[in-house]
Amino acid sequence: MSLRRTKIVATLGPATSSPERIAELIAAGMNVARMNFSHGSADEHRRRARLVREIAEENGQHVALLGDLQGPKIRIGRFTEGRIELEVGDNFRLSTVHDLENGTSDIVGLDYPDLVKDCRAGDELLLDDGRVVLAVESVGRDEVRCRVTVGGPLSNNKGINRRGGGLSAAALTDKDRNDINLAAELQMEYVAVSFPRDAADMHLARKLLRDAESEAWLIAKIERAEAVADDETLDGLIQASDGVMVARGDLGVEIGDAELVGIQKHIISRARKQNKVVITATQMMESMISSPLPTRAEVSDVANAALDYTDAVMLSAETAAGDYPVEAVRAMDRICRGAEKHPTSQKSGHRLYQKFERCDETVALAAMYAGNHFPGVTAVITLTESGFTPLIMSRIRSHLPIFALSPNTQTLGRVALYRGVQAIPFNPADMPSSDINQQAVNKLLEGGYVQPGDWVILTKGDVYNSRGGTNSMKLLHVGESLV
Ligand code: G6P
Ligand code: MG
Repeated sequence: MSLRRTKIVATLGPATSSPERIAELIAAGMNVARMNFSHGSADEHRRRARLVREIAEENGQHVALLGDLQGPKIRIGRFTEGRIELEVGDNFRLSTVHDLENGTSDIVGLDYPDLVKDCRAGDELLLDDGRVVLAVESVGRDEVRCRVTVGGPLSNNKGINRRGGGLSAAALTDKDRNDINLAAELQMEYVAVSFPRDAADMHLARKLLRDAESEAWLIAKIERAEAVADDETLDGLIQASDGVMVARGDLGVEIGDAELVGIQKHIISRARKQNKVVITATQMMESMISSPLPTRAEVSDVANAALDYTDAVMLSAETAAGDYPVEAVRAMDRICRGAEKHPTSQKSGHRLYQKFERCDETVALAAMYAGNHFPGVTAVITLTESGFTPLIMSRIRSHLPIFALSPNTQTLGRVALYRGVQAIPFNPADMPSSDINQQAVNKLLEGGYVQPGDWVILTKGDVYNSRGGTNSMKLLHVGESLV
């Protein structure tokens, strides 16, 4: 049976709130359900989270929950008429004192007093993800005067970015702090922080989560030009997090589309080298919001992210508010499986010339090296408490499925995001130690993942149910009686 390695994150929203739809998404291959805290009420998120947990459990699936904090996105105010039309050459002013409710086609208010400090003549401001572009002509005491260089409609509360970055507010707003408590309440496996500037923003988020008694893993969304300006800042952000998201919407607007693809590859590779998970996000299947089939360009985009070895690809509006949410997950599933057949997706040069630091890390990487080079091997089994051993294993390119066997429910959910890793509940403490290898292999036989005659590799430690203790790897011949 062939298993997809690249995982699928699907955002839940109005189009995917009913039990039927959520069941279809899970059946189609959703591995992680994303709750976007920028939209919807706490009760809506509670309801969807409960449905995901219940339906996954009924179907014996492990689906992780990811809460995505809104963060300090800077937005313009509202227009008296709801929306205006801007034409190339028009003058338009952004004001920090104008009534936030009553913008016109000359001026709009903005709740970000530092705007006048952060802008100077010659800057380019991008509204609504770059659909409208303004050139700054001069900056006054409480307004920025611009000329429109790309025109179009502009409606209430659209986001604003500066080309090259530089508009920045503290990463965690009061709303984010409330949503962190909600994520803790819902026992989410992952929380994503929007617009972090540096490691300090991630440390603060981690402290707030731990104070709320959440063990969630933290994902830094890489979406400011500053975050990718140099490797030191990027590595600092990655190091302070458990994973990153290539948040291509805002990032693309700030650094420009010409730079984006190279930067995506760079972020994926830096994250994997540091043993972190990575999600590639935004507009992957955008046309499927209103069409049952993806475009060739979208197929190519998803396949390329899979070939770059991202852990997961993500759907946003496609599943939250689109007309074809289930079809979008099915299309991603199909495209990832296709890309994974390509040989570049299976050969590894991972850390070939580097020293390892820990005993369990050494065993994990040795197991993958053995599996990739010994043709009879069809699966890798790792007994894990925290998910650390399969995380290290899944940083390596391989054609082999990695089965994470764990008694820990949070761990089983968390590994749903790791590339190439499948979760199986398993408690070695319940069995005599001489029986563990056989019972572990039996789980794979029951699932139809291996057959008599196959080789499987199994890693574990001397003590059961304790983290960090992996010190052995064994090659087991399926079908023989195992000890
Ligand atoms: C399970 C096994 C142990 C192993 C541990 C590794 O608890 O029973 O033998 O040492 O997993 O867990 P880790 O969290 O480090 O992957
Ligand atoms: Mg964003």
